[in-house]
Amino acid sequence: PRVAVVVVAAGSGTRLRGGAPKAFVGLDARSILHRSLLGVFAGPSAQVVVVVPEGYEGDALTDARDAAGAAADLVTVVTGGATRQESVAAGISALWADVDVVLVHDAARALTPPEVFERVVAAVDAGADAVIPTLPVVDTIKRVDDAGRVVAGVDRSELAAAQTPQGFRRAVLEAALAEAAADHTDDAAVVAAAGHTVITVAGDAAAFKITTAPDLERARAIVQAAPE
Ligand code: C5P
Repeated sequence: PRVAVVVVAAGSGTRLRGGAPKAFVGLDARSILHRSLLGVFAGPSAQVVVVVPEGYEGDALTDARDAAGAAADLVTVVTGGATRQESVAAGISALWADVDVVLVHDAARALTPPEVFERVVAAVDAGADAVIPTLPVVDTIKRVDDAGRVVAGVDRSELAAAQTPQGFRRAVLEAALAEAAADHTDDAAVVAAAGHTVITVAGDAAAFKITTAPDLERARAIVQAAPE
């Protein structure tokens, strides 16, 4: 395939306290990772690279093959690193030769609709080097100092919340990761630091990141109301 989706699932999930690495915590009978992969396989046809903590490769392969159905041949599982950025780099190293568009997706955004994947791929196909789905910021945001004092207000009309999947021309992402000096919390920051323009497409509220216990409860309630 000419598109690949790198699904990063190697986080420890310490903020979730789910008893297992976050991607392997159950949503219903199945894991967060399994649910994420159902969304990925409902999107554009792609090589799917799943990046997991050491020791979870076998579990991930079972989840991924099950979610993939007839597309099981498109799945690769690799071991992640200590940071998200290192996990992305590990995933990139497993890309097949014919891939030229790479999407990087947080497994923790388990309920991301397939349409978001389609929008991101379409924007890269239309010529963008880097594309991220975003949502408007609804909260009023403050800049706060170490002592907890408000330093300044920030005009929220200038802000957007970044989601995944984030899409890139393969050569752009590979070069930016190879030269990245600092650790960044998303791939758009890596590519922006390398001097590339990042454009936005509409995100989706359903693509929220499962981070805390209340997020997990919310995801479980949504899945229960709308099973696979
Ligand atoms: O920690 P956070 O929720 O920001 O992580 C976002 C995504 O990055 C999660 O899907 C997590 O599994 C992944 N991650 C990773 N390797 C790490 C840290 C996070 O694959 N070392």
